[in-house]
Amino acid sequence: MKTVGLSLRSLSSFPRQRCFARNHVCAFSALMSPPSTAVVYDQHGPPDKVTRLVEIPPVEIKQNEVCVKMLAAPINPSDINRIEGVYPVRPQPPAVGGYEGVGQVHAVGSSVNTLSPGDWVIPSPPSFGTWQTYIVKEETVWHKINKHTPMEYAATVTVNPLTAFRMLQDFVQLNSGDAIVQNAATSIVGQCIIQLARHQGVGSINIIRDRAGADQVKENLKKLGADEVFTESQLEKKNVKDLLGSLSEPALGFNCVGGNAATLVLKFLRNGGTMVTYGGMSKKPITVSTSSFIFKFILVCVRCSNEIFFHPLQDLSLRGFWLQKWMSTDRAKECRNMIDHLLDLMCDGKLKYE
Ligand SMILES: NC(=O)c1ccc[n+]([C@@H]2O[C@H](COP(=O)([O-])OP(=O)(O)OC[C@H]3O[C@@H](n4cnc5c(N)ncnc54)[C@H](OP(=O)(O)O)[C@@H]3O)[C@@H](O)[C@H]2O)c1
Repeated sequence: MKTVGLSLRSLSSFPRQRCFARNHVCAFSALMSPPSTAVVYDQHGPPDKVTRLVEIPPVEIKQNEVCVKMLAAPINPSDINRIEGVYPVRPQPPAVGGYEGVGQVHAVGSSVNTLSPGDWVIPSPPSFGTWQTYIVKEETVWHKINKHTPMEYAATVTVNPLTAFRMLQDFVQLNSGDAIVQNAATSIVGQCIIQLARHQGVGSINIIRDRAGADQVKENLKKLGADEVFTESQLEKKNVKDLLGSLSEPALGFNCVGGNAATLVLKFLRNGGTMVTYGGMSKKPITVSTSSFIFKFILVCVRCSNEIFFHPLQDLSLRGFWLQKWMSTDRAKECRNMIDHLLDLMCDGKLKYE
């Protein structure tokens, strides 16, 4: 990544340009942000080729705006995809990278009354451009959080933990004693699924890639609450259900990988089960056997005039989840309540990353 100063001219289409233009007419007493350093990409492409550090001059903080000093912002796989230009929703370059993070309020505009300097805040819902040292945005963008939250958790709560939380709620009614199955169990989403499921009394069967040190990885996931952890090669057998032990056949599976790893999730699913795809890390398509579609249905027993019938209730379901779509409906308050709940778990050490 190169570090370069940026001339006003080359910033002509940059989103914060409105602020630079305003600088020329600002009253002398206007409240200004400190200069900021941002990770910017001018075009789509490989992140190591198209990103650079840019120095951004101070901007005016308007009445209803808050200037936040960013403390931490993660690099999510989707951030990389946005820079590459392959993520469905993305800012037009030139743009600042990043989508979530945590910061400390540096200064507030004169009409801001919910936030004060020193408060810790996250953009909620998450919003583009968190990879910079100072951000000026409207008060309503920011959600105040507990300052005692470990920084790395505060910076990452709005995407992966929320995804895990929603996927455990939105597809199948899970009861204590049920189980789920997932691949990419080492991912942050996967780790959150393990722990949030455990809090509901739901067991988890976890699939990881083959690797050196697999035993240590299994051990780490079990410390988080995983019931079973298998490498993909351990599941190359006809009847994986033999490996369930005391766990019930899972009604819900999560696929973050595609290809063979998705097939392994399907192998564990009980008849009438649901597999939710939320990621495609292997970039391979999902292949489903014809017999799964035809025969993996659930039968219910119906009694009618002293006769018993078996009625096919539900067959295999393949579903998808995208947090951004879930958030696009008017769910700001619900979203912030869930974030507070997840942050409480994080502060209590009940939701963590290995
Ligand atoms: N749909 C949504 O709303 C939504 C929301 C959040 C995240 N996501 C997606 O969820 C996925 C995980 O995100 P994250 O931030 O939790 O990721 P992460 O912590 O960076 O973990 C990546 C995971 O993918 C696995 N992986 C990487 N490359 C792979 C490959 N070529 N084949 C198989 N597995 C591979 C890794 O396994 P190893 O341990 O073996 O390296 C690891 O388990 C990403 O695709 C992300 O875009 C989707």
